[in-house]
Amino acid sequence: MPEEGPIRIVSNRLPVVLKRRRQRWEVEPGAGGLVQALRPILRDRGGAWIGWPGVTAETGDGWRPGLRSVSHSEGYELVPVVLDDSDVEGFYEGFANSIVWPLFHGFPDRCSFDASFFASYGRVNQKFTHAIADSHSDPGLLWIHDYHLFEVARRLRELGHQGPLAFFLHIPFPSVENFAKLPWRESLLKDLLHFDLIGFQTRRDLRHFQQCLSLVGVHPDLPDSPAMQRFRDGDRSLWAGAFPIGMDFRDFAARSLSSDVSTRVHQLRHDLGSGKLLLGIDRLDYTKGLIHRLKAYEQALTVHPALREEVVYFQLVVPSRENVPEYRALKREFDRVVGRINGRFSTPRWRPIHYLYNRVDPVELSALYRLADVALVTPLRDGMNLVAKEYCASQTDDAGALILSEFAGAAEQLQDGALLVNPYDIHDTARAIYQALTMPPDERRRRMRLMRTTLAESDVFWWASSFLETALMPSASLVTQQTLPPPGADKPGHPA
Ligand code: G6P
Repeated sequence: MPEEGPIRIVSNRLPVVLKRRRQRWEVEPGAGGLVQALRPILRDRGGAWIGWPGVTAETGDGWRPGLRSVSHSEGYELVPVVLDDSDVEGFYEGFANSIVWPLFHGFPDRCSFDASFFASYGRVNQKFTHAIADSHSDPGLLWIHDYHLFEVARRLRELGHQGPLAFFLHIPFPSVENFAKLPWRESLLKDLLHFDLIGFQTRRDLRHFQQCLSLVGVHPDLPDSPAMQRFRDGDRSLWAGAFPIGMDFRDFAARSLSSDVSTRVHQLRHDLGSGKLLLGIDRLDYTKGLIHRLKAYEQALTVHPALREEVVYFQLVVPSRENVPEYRALKREFDRVVGRINGRFSTPRWRPIHYLYNRVDPVELSALYRLADVALVTPLRDGMNLVAKEYCASQTDDAGALILSEFAGAAEQLQDGALLVNPYDIHDTARAIYQALTMPPDERRRRMRLMRTTLAESDVFWWASSFLETALMPSASLVTQQTLPPPGADKPGHPA
């Protein structure tokens, strides 16, 4: 890395888990991929992680001592930004999850374009801005994450901040047709221009961003370059690039081979029977294509009766955003369709769908990944989708097959090994299910090896270090990115 110095990470959620047990708060460090990637960098360079601890002001602040002790043991500061109930309603459930989330995933009809949500978004972005400004006097790099915090760079600049500001968008950037529907489109774009570097998951997102910037008269000033762009706005310049996020490949591969996981695989095999296993693992979200996937499975069972009693589809659904009405409605719909399909095909000795609505621990997760013959990752739209990558990393014997939506960011990297499907096309997905279940072992292995090689090379540590190097020296990165496109990117035939 060209320059070492403290770094501050900002994201909506702090990487901690707060639990209240018998009147006492317990605070544990988070275990997600982002925190695993950034923890060594933060420990090494020092710095802070600024974000919402996930509880509201109304619940009191009995968790603060626990947070301080996690800060101490982690070796970097965890700075809480406390939201109140009305912030959660207007900013988080409102602007972030009922406007930006659906719009950026291509569902404009699901948006509630409520002006009070936008006002709340501004207030919370201002809270974050003050927390950042108060957190340190060092002007080192600030790395801001995701769609909750679009306004922070502009607000920091208004306070006189001159240090480098980098941003990574974990979700897709929408096409100009969808983005243009946002009543606050110009202010959002102009706010983004205050960053020095913006990272997107894919080249397609970068292309969309470039097209949207033309709405405010800003154009790239370098010859066409698919992975890095530079935009000028007055005397400021903004770099934007595609940096596909990875996961901790080695950790997933090693866990998959651990004795705990082997024991659990054995038990699950006994419980689920000896048939082939199809696996889906998703947060409960309408972007994940869960209903389309159920219908595709139903179609496969209808067209290929030989699959009945020979295949089990295990779907883990992780509860999410349960206060947002769209999510509650989806839960009811999902339960209904699972019940209908199980009612239609079940026999005394076989249930076609096993469905769990819960969170599972890492051993259970790895056991499911290892056991599954086929992973079904068929979102209608997804920034990247790490389930697809975690599944491949866990297939240490190269035996599994991946069915992957064309509209997941991961398709840019995994298109040579996965069976790509259009998740809206139920017949096509049903055909892919049958193909995956009957694929000759040699072909499965060839495809899985291709994907595992790509993923081992572009893991989450590669992602974090290439982003940070670019944040400090963007023009050098332009040369690297132009000469070394990410594996599988921008092949002819890939949908734009
Ligand atoms: C997506 C977003 C993250 C978000 C996560 C969980 O992956 O990109 O920023 O944290 O979903 O959603 P939640 O609303 O529970 O934070």
